Amino acid sequence: MKQDSTKKTARPRIRITDTTLRDAHQSLWATRLRTDDILAIAEKIDNAGYYSLECWGGATFDVCMRFLRENPWERLRQIKAVCKKTPLQMLLRGQNILGYKHYPDDVVERFVALACENGMDIFRVFDALNDPRNLEKAIASVKKYGGHAQGTISYTTSPVHTVAAYVKLAKEQVAMGIDSLAIKDMAGILTPGAARELISALVKELPDMPIQVHSHMTSGMAAAMYLAAVESGAGCVDCAISTMSSFSSQPPCESIVTILESEGYDTGLDQEKLAEINAYFRELKKTRQPLSTQKVEPVDAGVLVHAIPGGMISNLRSQLAQQDALDRLPEVLAELPKTRADMGYPPLVTPTSQIVGVQSVLNVLSGKRYSMVTDETKHYAAGYYGRTPAPIEKKLQKKLMGDLKPITCRPADLLKPGLAAAAAEIPSKLIQKEEDILSYCLFPEVALGYFKWRAQPADQRDPIPADLEQQTAPEAAVPAPEPNAEERRLADIGALVVELFGKIGVSAGSVATVKRAETPAPASAPVEEKKADTAPTGPTINAPFNGTFYRSDGPGKPQIAKEGDQIAKGAPLCIVEAMKMFNPIHADKALTVVKFLVEHGSVVQKGQPLVEVQYV
Ligand code: CO
Repeated sequence: MKQDSTKKTARPRIRITDTTLRDAHQSLWATRLRTDDILAIAEKIDNAGYYSLECWGGATFDVCMRFLRENPWERLRQIKAVCKKTPLQMLLRGQNILGYKHYPDDVVERFVALACENGMDIFRVFDALNDPRNLEKAIASVKKYGGHAQGTISYTTSPVHTVAAYVKLAKEQVAMGIDSLAIKDMAGILTPGAARELISALVKELPDMPIQVHSHMTSGMAAAMYLAAVESGAGCVDCAISTMSSFSSQPPCESIVTILESEGYDTGLDQEKLAEINAYFRELKKTRQPLSTQKVEPVDAGVLVHAIPGGMISNLRSQLAQQDALDRLPEVLAELPKTRADMGYPPLVTPTSQIVGVQSVLNVLSGKRYSMVTDETKHYAAGYYGRTPAPIEKKLQKKLMGDLKPITCRPADLLKPGLAAAAAEIPSKLIQKEEDILSYCLFPEVALGYFKWRAQPADQRDPIPADLEQQTAPEAAVPAPEPNAEERRLADIGALVVELFGKIGVSAGSVATVKRAETPAPASAPVEEKKADTAPTGPTINAPFNGTFYRSDGPGKPQIAKEGDQIAKGAPLCIVEAMKMFNPIHADKALTVVKFLVEHGSVVQKGQPLVEVQYV
């Protein structure tokens, strides 16, 4: 039904952000658009009449250095040099910047300053937990350096995610000085009805705040939802050019333009120009789309039932496959909403999607809920990721935290400044510009690998693999392929640091590669080697699942327990690494370690005896 206003001569303008250069290829092509691919079409995109071009942030930064051997900062400068009319936009994960943990304030501020300096205009700042304290430094920095700060509601559904709670969250961000507000529906679960209700309330309470809506076509609802959103007062929606749209990407730009114009809105976009841009991507698809993603179903109707994002399900599937437990997927899907409820209903987006997903898998495979708790769950429960949307029940929180003390302050307040320390860690001959220090702060191993590659004479550098099927990107929901030679080489470079707290952000689609890159080398203090050739005569502690056995939690770290040690009930004995998590194996009762039955670094099967013990 048309509204009267649509019959007036001046049609209301609805703006469209093009996500083709960031979210779309991250969602469909494992983030593999190269800078040259972008530059070849950038001028046409700049002239199409979009409100803004999302072209940076998310997984692009990591993939640039890790797989494409490109400097992401240089990509930004080159896009800016061509796109002079349309503002550039990026996705910034608040205090996490583009990584998976909290960074100190000085790193956040300098990152934003350099992004502004190199041409970034609009910063969409979000936090997985919608904790305003994780947004404040990033938003303040964007304002300080002259950018457009877009606040974000990370949309999810739960008993505590009410319209009133979202309005309160929006107001908190308005008080921080945001210029506009995004509703980020990363899982594609926002229905037209819920969008109408939420946006009407936001418009009523915050009439001057421009509202932009971001969604994914995963469940097939996003196009209908966009129309409802626009009718309720949203002024801007995110679309991708049709070839790069749909499936787990954004709705198709050309279709949304036609839908909106049929309803009397003006988008300022010209279908002929869009068709030229689309022809370019249709051709590029032949060489850039990974084969594995060509088999994806167009609509994942399961999302409509269980609201679990499609990418997350493929991660769970790959984690279970590693455990030879694919048949337990239905149990995990039933467990996941319970774990999420226990953990205070976090929205399922990086990094909370990984924390909740892996914990659910452990809850099922271990046979007893929370008998195994990941380090990330432990920190999450203690408040290190921010305030949970609903409080965690006190007794469970205590159990999850283990020996950690809960924090109630802004998590980043606990972090020391990080820039100077990072600069001191990089060999000075590898640093070309200040931006390199920021790249290193975010992805230390990946950045060092890239810097070393870059420092070699051009004819001696390893070639960049052309075959996409040989690589898996972070956040790409594709099954993990076997690592190729290039990845194994990268893994050697990457074996420098094991960063327990920063490990989880990479989705399980890349388990095979990431695990190799971060697997600790054998401890530098030689670990006693024990063969499992003598059968244990006493009780044993067994592997709770398939994984890799470690006696220390990083290169050069001391052994957790030695033979003859007395271990208190609940204290750690060793580690089984699985699903990218270092899972400490604890003493079930007070005991004495008799003998380790497995070598440090070896692969273990579920149920395999790891340590012979004597109970005291
Ligand atoms: Co998105």
